[in-house]
Amino acid sequence: MILLRIAIDGPAGAGKSTVARIVAQKLGYTHIDTGAMYRALTLEALERSIDLENQDALVAALEDMDLTLQPGSAGNQVFIQGRDVTAQIRSPEVSEHVSLVSSHPKVRAAVVEMQQQMAKADNVVMDGRDIGTVVMPDADLKIYLDASVEVRAMRRSMELAKKGFPVSLEELVAKIRQRDEFDSTREASPLRQAEDAVVIDTTNLSVSEVVDLILAYCRGRGGHV
Ligand code: DC
Repeated sequence: MILLRIAIDGPAGAGKSTVARIVAQKLGYTHIDTGAMYRALTLEALERSIDLENQDALVAALEDMDLTLQPGSAGNQVFIQGRDVTAQIRSPEVSEHVSLVSSHPKVRAAVVEMQQQMAKADNVVMDGRDIGTVVMPDADLKIYLDASVEVRAMRRSMELAKKGFPVSLEELVAKIRQRDEFDSTREASPLRQAEDAVVIDTTNLSVSEVVDLILAYCRGRGGHV
């Protein structure tokens, strides 16, 4: 069997996007960062002053915005109508509002539909919150990455500082706790492990150790690695 579709889920800061990007590079698969899609919609809604509680308006904006993802060496590059918004979608303002936008069932249905179309077109490594449970329930390999909240906040803080958004560690711990709580308790496809997912606690592991573990699981499942 050749592995075609890998799902990587987990909470904010567990290392999903970094690990998914490297695993995809090593396998020659396409990496899709699904959080970036919810972030792009949030940015568009904020820029157009769309009411973030109005799911119909959000779905209409999604249909209009011509959202594209392009895998790159530093992660997915994200474009709205050809405009590169890769940096803006990581701003604290977008991070603050993205949980609300992604909690709406109609928004999720529309985004999941786009993701399923993408997964049909290519061999993919897709990372997010509901990939193994909703988007690709029949994925060939499902990974659930987790880590302590302190380590996740530390990783986010380094990532944000590099991107020019310095945020205090205490503030990040509080925000990540809040976002975890919101993402796990929302009604529409909350963050949870798929029953058949392999759980990896990345608290004390380096990125390359996590990547190697995932590649070993791929081999174990008969993938060509
Ligand atoms: O992974 P991230 O921080 O870029 O995700 C941004 C937000 O999008 C996060 O609050 C949860 C949400 N999200 C989701 O609900 N489902 C996904 N598949 C990916 C992200």
